[in-house]
Amino acid sequence: MKFFIDTANMEEIKEAFSLGVVAGVTTNPSLVAKEKNVSFEDRLREITALVPGSVSAEVIALDAEGMIKEGKELAAIAPNITIKVPMTPDGLKAVHAFSKEGIKTNVTLIFSANQALLAARAGATYVSPFVGRLDDIGHNGLDLISTIAEIFAIHDISTEIIAASIRHPQHVTDAALRGAHIATVPYKVIQQLFNHPLTAKGIEAFLADWNSRS
Ligand code: E4P
Repeated sequence: MKFFIDTANMEEIKEAFSLGVVAGVTTNPSLVAKEKNVSFEDRLREITALVPGSVSAEVIALDAEGMIKEGKELAAIAPNITIKVPMTPDGLKAVHAFSKEGIKTNVTLIFSANQALLAARAGATYVSPFVGRLDDIGHNGLDLISTIAEIFAIHDISTEIIAASIRHPQHVTDAALRGAHIATVPYKVIQQLFNHPLTAKGIEAFLADWNSRS
């Protein structure tokens, strides 16, 4: 399983990339709205100048025609832009049109296996099932990852599964075990992945022993 970072914040993206473990970026309108004094397009230029992997940029239009127009404009910013489209009939019409033009897509707001299968059949490059938001309503978001992974394997579907709405490190481990190709992870959770109390304690003990040499 690869890691993407789920943010539109440049400092977080720079720091995460300097760690050498992150392969791409996902943004959404809520994450972009947190970034003040910069246009969406300029932020995408900054991100794609730094990140060679997939950078998801979400369309705002709700009709297929509007999504296709917006998506083409966003895709023209850099060759590694992936157009993020919501899971609706119009969204899938747009995904189908993008796939015919070789534009990569990420179908977002996936909450069922059937939605993932439809998106894959429309030609989606990625599907993004939202683990945390399903957990929030008392469902098991990770079970959805397993189900989609099983269906895609049975039917030899090449669409990749991005485990999204990741809230804590256990989500990351479980998404990997259940067959997600990618987890898109907030910066705070990436930091948490590094930590273990025994690692910190071990470093402290090694240093203390080293400094006690006579
Ligand atoms: C996915 O691409 C979304 O940007 C994201 O993972 C949503 O997460 P949230 O449910 O924490 O807002």
